[in-house]
Order: sequence, then C-alpha cells, then structure tokens
Amino acid sequence: MIVKVPATSANLGPGFDTLGLSLSLYNRFEVSPSIVQSIRIDGEGSDIPKLLKDNNFIKIFKDVYRELGGETRDFTFYLKNEIPVSRGLGSSSAVVIGAIISAYEMLKVPYTRDLILSKAIKYEKHPDNITPAVNGGFNIAMIKNSKVFYIRHKIPNDIKAVVVIPNKAISTRYSRKTLPKQYSLHDAVFNISRSSMLTGVFLSKRWNLLKIAAEDRIHQDKRMALFPALFAVRKEALKRGALMSVLSGSGSTFLNICYRDDSSKLASSLSKKFGEFRVLELEFDNTGFNIE
Ligand code: HSE
Repeated sequence: MIVKVPATSANLGPGFDTLGLSLSLYNRFEVSPSIVQSIRIDGEGSDIPKLLKDNNFIKIFKDVYRELGGETRDFTFYLKNEIPVSRGLGSSSAVVIGAIISAYEMLKVPYTRDLILSKAIKYEKHPDNITPAVNGGFNIAMIKNSKVFYIRHKIPNDIKAVVVIPNKAISTRYSRKTLPKQYSLHDAVFNISRSSMLTGVFLSKRWNLLKIAAEDRIHQDKRMALFPALFAVRKEALKRGALMSVLSGSGSTFLNICYRDDSSKLASSLSKKFGEFRVLELEFDNTGFNIE
C-alpha cells in the first residue's frame, strides 16, 4: 500500500491561515510490517540525516496506529519524496496526512476526509495546508471548536503554477514570530477585502482580478524581508505574465499563477533571471491524497 499526498501552497497572499491549494508534486509513503524497524528516504530530504533518526512520519504513524488499537510490532517505512523540505510547499502537512492515512489503511479502519482532518489538526496547527493536501483543489478552511470546516473548489485547467524554489528555507515558526501582534483596522479591512475577492476569483474564474486580489498586508513583506531576493522574484514574475505572485505558505518558495499558454515563457524567464533557484511548472492537483 502506498499513500500519495500532494504538495500545497497556503495563504495565497491575503488568506493568511485560511486559503490554500494543491499542486501536482507528491510524496509517497509506503509502510509494511517487518521483523525489524527500518526507514529509507529517496528524493527530497534524503540528504538530511536528522530525518532518518527523528522522523515525524514514524512518530505520527505510531501514535495513530496505537490509538486505533494496533498491536505492537515493527515496520519498514519507505518515503519517496518530491516535495522540497521546509520551503513552504506543505512537506510537513504531507507527512502528517500520509502518516494518519497509512495507520488507518494498515489496520483497515474506515475513515472519511473530515476524520483525517480532525486528527491532522492536532499535529499541524493551521488548516490551510492540511485541507488542500486531503481534498485537492482550491480550499477555504477554518477551525471552530478544534474541528476543521472547509469549502473545496476544483481548479480549472486554463491556469497553471510556476513555482520558484530558493535554496534556503524560511522557518514557519520563526517567521511567525516576526509578525506583529496587532494590526490596524485599515490593514484588517485591506486583507479581508482581498481574501474575499480572491476566493470569488477562484469561484468565478475572473482571472484578470487575481493580481489585485492577491495583495496582502499581514505577513508577506515582513517574511520576505528575511530573504530580500524574493522581492525581485515577485517583480519579475508579475512583469513576465504572472496573474498573481505570492509567498507560498511561510516561504521561501514563491507561487506564481498564470494562464496555461504563458507558463513555459514565464518559467524560462524566471530560470534565466534566478539561475540559483529551482523553477518548476506545475499543474494544480484536484484529487488530494490517493491510495496507490
Ligand atoms: N498559514 C501558515 C503560515 C502556513 O503562514 O504560517 C504554514 O502552516
């Protein structure tokens, strides 16, 4: 059994801790019963020794497996990762979702998307990555009484993503600490209006409004100040045909959305200008997690 979980991009500019979408880059998690415990990681993260010693996937899988009444035994864990680690593309959400579903599948306990999300929110405090990882598509997510509520909408294929992935990570925890504790009413209204407009754009496909709808005054510029090269990425992407250009999650990746026909040109301009960063053209994922 292999559990496949997509990459995600959270916030989408103004929708801090609320909006997110799913991208066609995947982590695959394979768990099988064995005589001794072992772990193998291929792809992203395979060069990080800490992940072999102290692995969150194993911890969460075992937690949930025990909670579901699974008998004590060893497993082989094989993680085949396409999602870059700590770059704002939802690698930790993929681990959380993958581990929870693997435990349910291993014990053949039935589950629903809502149940997986209610378990996942204990491990990942913000719902804007875990929700699209489960559902695919564009997601509006909120928490009330420790439960995740969401609306999910399919993303049509006339638009595509071009992501710019820097070689440096921005820590979500640290960058959240750099954010103010209070905002003015003016800035709150600024973000509420853009976030609502952005949601409307995804529902109505009025892509020409994406650029103004993706503005933000809550987190982006403060986080980008930790890595100033990102200002140049945004400027160049908007100049070269991006409909919107935003920090993906807490960064450091930049998510650019453009018309499908413009994606190759946008990707090649960005690779030329930012040779030190990885540039990927990606489809949106509309499926969410999958069992292979
Ligand atoms: N909304 C979160 C943040 C995304 O921006 O910190 C990472 O979970």
